[in-house]
Amino acid sequence: MAKLHPDLQNKEFWYKDITLIPNRLPDFERDRVDLTTYFTKRLKLKTPFVSSPMDTVTEGEMAILMALLGGIGVIHYNFLTIDEQIEEVEKVKRFEAGFVFNPVVLSPQNTVKDVYGVNDKYGFFSVPITEDGTLNSKLSGIVTHRDIRYRKDMETKLKEVMTPREKLIVAKKSETVDKNDLQAANGILRKNNLDTLIIIDIDNRVVALVADSDIRKNEQFPLATKDENKQLRTFIAAESRFKIAKERIGKGYDAGLNGVIIDASVVFKEQLEIAKYCKENFPNLEIVLGNVDSAEMVEKILKEGSEYCDALRVGIGPGAACITQQELGTGRAQASAVWDCAQEAKKLEPKYGFMPIIADGGIKIPDIIGQDVAKPGDITKALALGAQTVMMGSLLAGLDESPGEKEFDYEENRMVKKYRGMGSIEAMEKRGALRYGIEKMRIKIPEGKVIKVPYRGSGYDFIPELIAGVKQSLQKQGFKNIKELQEEADIRPLPK
Ligand code: XMP
Repeated sequence: MAKLHPDLQNKEFWYKDITLIPNRLPDFERDRVDLTTYFTKRLKLKTPFVSSPMDTVTEGEMAILMALLGGIGVIHYNFLTIDEQIEEVEKVKRFEAGFVFNPVVLSPQNTVKDVYGVNDKYGFFSVPITEDGTLNSKLSGIVTHRDIRYRKDMETKLKEVMTPREKLIVAKKSETVDKNDLQAANGILRKNNLDTLIIIDIDNRVVALVADSDIRKNEQFPLATKDENKQLRTFIAAESRFKIAKERIGKGYDAGLNGVIIDASVVFKEQLEIAKYCKENFPNLEIVLGNVDSAEMVEKILKEGSEYCDALRVGIGPGAACITQQELGTGRAQASAVWDCAQEAKKLEPKYGFMPIIADGGIKIPDIIGQDVAKPGDITKALALGAQTVMMGSLLAGLDESPGEKEFDYEENRMVKKYRGMGSIEAMEKRGALRYGIEKMRIKIPEGKVIKVPYRGSGYDFIPELIAGVKQSLQKQGFKNIKELQEEADIRPLPK
């Protein structure tokens, strides 16, 4: 177990109040450090990063980024309809796959414009064409980007541009999907130099497809968080209201969802009922409960629902856009909350089993131009204090992959993006009030604010830098993995 200096015992402290003392003699390079961890009891990640379910942070694009780089994204629920949220799940599931089941299909009567519509929505152009535009009818052909890229007339019917069935090389379901043999499908794809391979059943109906671009993506992102079918994994957040959460989770499950964070700024009882319902009806889903911030809360949840809960989210009010602590006088200093909750979970492990801790909120890195205070190494500190993963909002909201546009801020003389707390009036006016349990109340007390965060460019550059930074921090202390860090970190107070 990590050593917490006596001056920190039973005290409130933030990440900025502590430091990790290197007292080994490292004899290995940064790249030897392995950040593999558990997000939930069953789900391993190669990168301990989770993107927050906030409407200025995680939709499909961010969830794809996070999963490709070994972390995981949790898609927010502040949409006007459940279906809009599920579409974001579908984007992730379709992004990179082995066999793509239920592929999007069109009919010969659809137009070139409809193919562009598919690309806008899902990000690809290759579409099998079936007689009536559903998966129930026979395959008629395929349209790919090559077939339409020079077409000016958007109303051209697909029957005029598609490669017809008789010219298509297809694979049989019995020789690929039925044997779960992705290699066989990849072999046919490569041998024939195809962009897309369609798999059909004996009635000539489309069962699945395999795309060459997916194979290349698989090779490019070795850390990616994928399921058995090589599809990226993703989670959604659902409100702590049984009726609506039930509908949301059911639809998400049908779309291939991997888990749910039952979301509330402070955990409450209805979450346990929802979690129980999920475990009984969708045993494959991972369920995260929260938020908690004390050993007492951890104990209560484990006692009442350890079998329904696969991870605990820790943090009440430490986030960059949070004002819960100022407004309601509740919550606590995040680093001490993570320590206490992780300690309690560890203490109760022999009785209730392993319970991963997610350190949610308050993670910052130095911002050269000035707005954020420099708090280097917050991620490593959270891990050293016992968290298996860190959940981040403000740090990721400035990336290209978060929702919303970047803009030039004349006061600060730099590019920024908007970041808003889900308990801000602005977010609540959309839908966010459910997280704060006040949707029916006339008087709304905001628990969050709207801020600007520095624009940070592409996440495909930024996240690898962050990963390297955390690895370097472990290497400096002589730890090759998170387990060693958590067992032997030397955590001491910094002078105020
Ligand atoms: P960071 O510091 O990474 O924090 O931006 C992200 C986390 O903040 C929480 N969150 C809120 N907390 N009022 C709060 O008190 C809010 O309006 C609010 N919105 C988000 C949430 O846990 C998130 O993961």
